Amino acid sequence: MDTPRAMELISIRASLELKERRLISNNGKSQSRQRELHRFFCMQGGDTDASYAKNSEATACAIALSKPLLRESIASMKLHVGELSIRIADLGCATGYNTISTIEFVVESLRKRYEEELNHVPEFEAFFSDLPSNDFNSLFQLLLLPPFDISQRPYYVAGVPGSFYGRLFPSRKLHLTVSLNSLHWLSRIPEPVMDRKSAAWNRGRVWIDGAKEEVVDAFAKQSAEDLERFLRCRMDETVEGGVLFLLMAGRPSSQRPENQLNDEDTRTKHPFTIIDQAWEDLVKEGSIEEETRDTFNIPAYMRSTEEVKKAFVKCKGFEIRSIEYLKLIENSKERLEDWVEDPGSYGRAKTNLAQAGLRPLIEAHLGMMFTEKLFKKFEKRVSEDLSLIQSTCFYGLIVVSAIRK
Ligand SMILES: C[S@@+](CC[C@H](N)C(=O)[O-])C[C@H]1O[C@@H](n2cnc3c(N)ncnc32)[C@H](O)[C@@H]1O
Repeated sequence: MDTPRAMELISIRASLELKERRLISNNGKSQSRQRELHRFFCMQGGDTDASYAKNSEATACAIALSKPLLRESIASMKLHVGELSIRIADLGCATGYNTISTIEFVVESLRKRYEEELNHVPEFEAFFSDLPSNDFNSLFQLLLLPPFDISQRPYYVAGVPGSFYGRLFPSRKLHLTVSLNSLHWLSRIPEPVMDRKSAAWNRGRVWIDGAKEEVVDAFAKQSAEDLERFLRCRMDETVEGGVLFLLMAGRPSSQRPENQLNDEDTRTKHPFTIIDQAWEDLVKEGSIEEETRDTFNIPAYMRSTEEVKKAFVKCKGFEIRSIEYLKLIENSKERLEDWVEDPGSYGRAKTNLAQAGLRPLIEAHLGMMFTEKLFKKFEKRVSEDLSLIQSTCFYGLIVVSAIRK
């Protein structure tokens, strides 16, 4: 039926399709793409070897490392007497066991507290939120499998598509929000970095580690704006006394932002460094133009604890209970020993990990064929350099627990 609402929806759809076609046919396709990150950014979905679901061991270890702090936050959270349901959100949830196990832990810990302290257990609602391109289907299917299936699950679930840099929930809706391993992804590439006439044009590299001052400043400004925006939205959505628990990639306070990583070994082994070199390989062999590489940037920024605190001070709505910088060792000794025996399998594992986090982003810029080539270069580099297996790499993490004032 051609109701006015239906006509309006058809017209919105047509204009979106037109916009999409323009993005694809424009000469400035890649620049536009990088400004529209929220429309296609995601981890690699599905359950192939290169999927996020099969490459989330490092992020699982990061969550495990932050768990004592999460436990403390839950233990000190104000219990809401008379509430029919307690509402929990996971922002940047992706898909896989990490996603569900954190929510399970939170619900179980809160359920126990309500039972023991108030002798009353409310209902629980869990909201899994991520960008619309996230593989929600896999997540929902996982939620139907034991041990997470509905008959054994003591909480209701819903998916919430959207960017955490905007409002996702009604005012004063949430009691506890977590965002794990996600907030180092920025909302966009800063405008000056995409402008070849600007001093901040990031020539010759695809991310900011070691980049020139103007590039780093533009990213630092974007990161500050993003975090502030994130916090203001959460401030509106969180009930008084509600908890905000954040775990994100970060850098030590002693390091300036152009040094995004801990130390030289970490820099050499980090997937972003190796992908940078793989892009250079494609440029050098003439597979792609230099400009194709220069118009691509990884939208990530590792903050220091000071930068995070500054955003909280500006937002005013939360009181930080604890904030810590933690170091996570990349792989266990046993794992590394296995890989020394078979460097090829190390190459494949590391390439799968890089694809899980970066493939959809790169494919949107380079297309499928060159993305395939790029990851082949990546794999070759890793498999042929034994020193990579022998050195130790750390991931820097920032963990914050805050209470809504
Ligand atoms: C490394 S995954 C972390 C997934 C999961 N939380 C975990 O710890 O395993 C980062 C997630 O952040 C999401 N993300 C990045 N930017 C986002 C944004 N602006 N809004 C919502 N989600 C975002 C990505 O789509 C991705 O699923």
